[in-house]
Amino acid sequence: MIVDTNYYLKVLRILKRDPKKIWPIIRLRTGGEHFCKNYPLRNDGISSPPVTVAIRRSFRCNLNCVMCGQWGEHGIFKDTDPDEVCKQDLTTREIKKFIDDVSEFKPYIYFTGGEPLINDDIFELIRYCSDKHLITGMSSNSTMLESLANEVVDSGLDYFYASLDAPKALNDDIRKGDESFQHAINGIKKMVELRDKSRNKLPLIQVQSIVVKENQGSLFEMGKIVEDLGVDVWGLQLCVFTTQEAFDTSKKMMEEHFDIDYLYWKGFINDFDDGLDYGLLEDQLKMIKDHTWEFRLRLYNPLNTNAFDFRKYFLEPGVLLTDPPCMYPYAFCQMQPNGDLAFCGSQPDYVFGNLKDNDFQSIWNNQKARNFRLFIRIMGRILWMRGMVSRLFRVRITMSLVMLWMNPRMQCPMLGLIIGTGLMVMGVIPM
Ligand SMILES: C[S@@+](CC[C@H](N)C(=O)[O-])C[C@H]1O[C@@H](n2cnc3c(N)ncnc32)[C@H](O)[C@@H]1O
Ligand code: SF4
Repeated sequence: MIVDTNYYLKVLRILKRDPKKIWPIIRLRTGGEHFCKNYPLRNDGISSPPVTVAIRRSFRCNLNCVMCGQWGEHGIFKDTDPDEVCKQDLTTREIKKFIDDVSEFKPYIYFTGGEPLINDDIFELIRYCSDKHLITGMSSNSTMLESLANEVVDSGLDYFYASLDAPKALNDDIRKGDESFQHAINGIKKMVELRDKSRNKLPLIQVQSIVVKENQGSLFEMGKIVEDLGVDVWGLQLCVFTTQEAFDTSKKMMEEHFDIDYLYWKGFINDFDDGLDYGLLEDQLKMIKDHTWEFRLRLYNPLNTNAFDFRKYFLEPGVLLTDPPCMYPYAFCQMQPNGDLAFCGSQPDYVFGNLKDNDFQSIWNNQKARNFRLFIRIMGRILWMRGMVSRLFRVRITMSLVMLWMNPRMQCPMLGLIIGTGLMVMGVIPM
């Protein structure tokens, strides 16, 4: 287990700027109450509040990235008028009310979209969270950053994910829009410069790259580009996708159990076998892992697992690489632009309430939410989805399994906690 001291010293800047953010940070790092209260083992589907709350402000976007489930080649909105897609978006006031409600339990607030920077009120919302001592992150394609970097730095945002996938020509093939690479590079450089001159040297900046067939041969080269930008972290993540067959199986299963419109996951149907060179991908990943980078390298699960096999990931999408049980319905909540609440960012198809009808408190443990948690508990994972279990979720999953193993009837969370911490210190569970 390697603890990246340099990176954690940078994280401390968040606390230096606002010491009250200690609670959301502890909650995020440990899994909060889920860590010691054993909610996934309860028979009633009740959960303590989520650790992460994602706010999908709007679907509106200025790009059409090939792999995007919304606006990409197979995206569900690709042929739809954006005004039509966005006509039910919540007002700023309604979102602030939601932030008021969730701020009570100090979650990490992650802004996403669509493109968050396209929304006039995005900085107002980030400031609103910062004033409530919540940690905030935002994912952006960064193409609008040249003129907005100053505002991002001033807003009090803690963590910025800049999406950029490949060197110029390839990136422009993936992130389709007007000179998307050059605009993003200019914007990120400007933000690094302004951030480094600022008093607290925040936000932390992570370039986030998605592995698709277009960039499969240039991943190492991309690392070099990221290094030149002087950012703190490079995140490398496999493209989330499904096949038509796997989608049909999931759809059937979900329809058998729930009355839902299985829409969003459809945008991820993709035939990846066409054009992927698995040997090339293996070589690129090895080169990236063997190299010493100036930034912190963050390989997202399952890229970071020892037994990871590209062929299996792309050719056998019915076989899941991640271990059950899925903890998202306990730890994560996503607000959709129209106020729907869902448990999964890529599959917000199971909606368990809407903020226009009820407040967060009365939705989080309502019958619909509880039914889904119990369903997930029996099925383990239903969604035929690959590679999206983060380090933190793995820790929680392992913790739950340790607790389960300890003896569910005795409900002995302290012993589970001690064993789990021991395993973490020994590096069995990656931190
Ligand atoms: C949906 S976007 C929304 C925020 C913003 N528009 C952006 O691109 O950063 C959030 C992240 O999801 C990534 N993404 C898009 N399609 C994906 C896919 N099929 N699999 C994995 N990540 C994907 C984007 O590259 C981005 O890093
Ligand atoms: S910029 Fe983000 S939301 Fe827009 S198309 Fe690309 S991935 Fe999708």
